[in-house]
Amino acid sequence: GDEADLAPRPPVVTVMGHVDHGKTKLLDAIRKTNVVAREAGGITQHIGAYQVSTHHEGEDRKITFIDTPGHEAFTAMRARGAKSTDIAVLVVAADDGVKPQTIEALNHAQAAEVPVVVAVNKIDKEGADPNKVRAQLTEYGLVAEEYGGSTLFVDISAKNGTGIDDLLEAILLTADAELDLRANPKMDAQGIAIEAHLDKGRGPVATVLVQRGTLRVGDSIVCGEAFGRVRAMLDDNGEPVEEAAPSRPVLVMGLTAVPSAGDNFIVVGDDRMARQIAQQRAAR
Ligand code: GTP
Ligand code: NA
Ligand code: MG
Repeated sequence: GDEADLAPRPPVVTVMGHVDHGKTKLLDAIRKTNVVAREAGGITQHIGAYQVSTHHEGEDRKITFIDTPGHEAFTAMRARGAKSTDIAVLVVAADDGVKPQTIEALNHAQAAEVPVVVAVNKIDKEGADPNKVRAQLTEYGLVAEEYGGSTLFVDISAKNGTGIDDLLEAILLTADAELDLRANPKMDAQGIAIEAHLDKGRGPVATVLVQRGTLRVGDSIVCGEAFGRVRAMLDDNGEPVEEAAPSRPVLVMGLTAVPSAGDNFIVVGDDRMARQIAQQRAAR
């Protein structure tokens, strides 16, 4: 694309960490929702994606968040999360400390070469030791600024809402200091499916992250081996939207099949071309 067509886009942040360290609760605190209460057994099964607005240095800024599950069974989903991301927020419960899936999540982030911000959570709990978390993570190459390193650690309580604004600030500081986040919103959209399933009423639905261009209702798309015309799109509050700009996650309806998480999508000229490309891919 033309350099002149590049426009700033929000950072895409993946929230990772050990099971039950508070990833979903943190997103609830940021969005002022209560997804944790609706999850079966309090366990995240699907990747969720949300966009929030905040203020930073006198400007309105958006941040896109991707929630991942902490369970061993979901290694592949975490790896995909890390790949579609600009910054990883590593959530570590201050009463539990660094755990195997903390390190596994960190390995995904480091392999994907994305900067890491550490959210030291549950500081409201008895026995919370946020400095122990800092000390533990130095062994894995994450040295806190206050220890002479370059990683931002933020103490938070997702339960009480403590430190949430500081965390958003740390994310945007990291994005502005380390990344050049721009994309061309004028071209046909491209992006990645982060979660997809068959919905009883709606048919195949996919949560996609637009990475370049603008996705619009009516566009013909190919997503992995699935294709179709975008019949409707919903934002993360379930509200219908007509278009989605770079870094925006949306739920897409109108695909003829369920794509796989991690599949790339592209907008093509018409339905016939979409079908042809999808059939070629399926035949390979
Ligand atoms: P998985 O998706 O299953 O890996 O878990 P998760 O990391 O998303 O953790 P979740 O947000 O489901 O929180 C796990 C439990 O810890 C829930 O009971 C939360 O209410 C609780 N919790 C999360 N954050 C805090 C916190 O800051 N303080 C306290 N006291 N409890 C918290
Ligand atoms: Na949980
Ligand atoms: Mg969760």
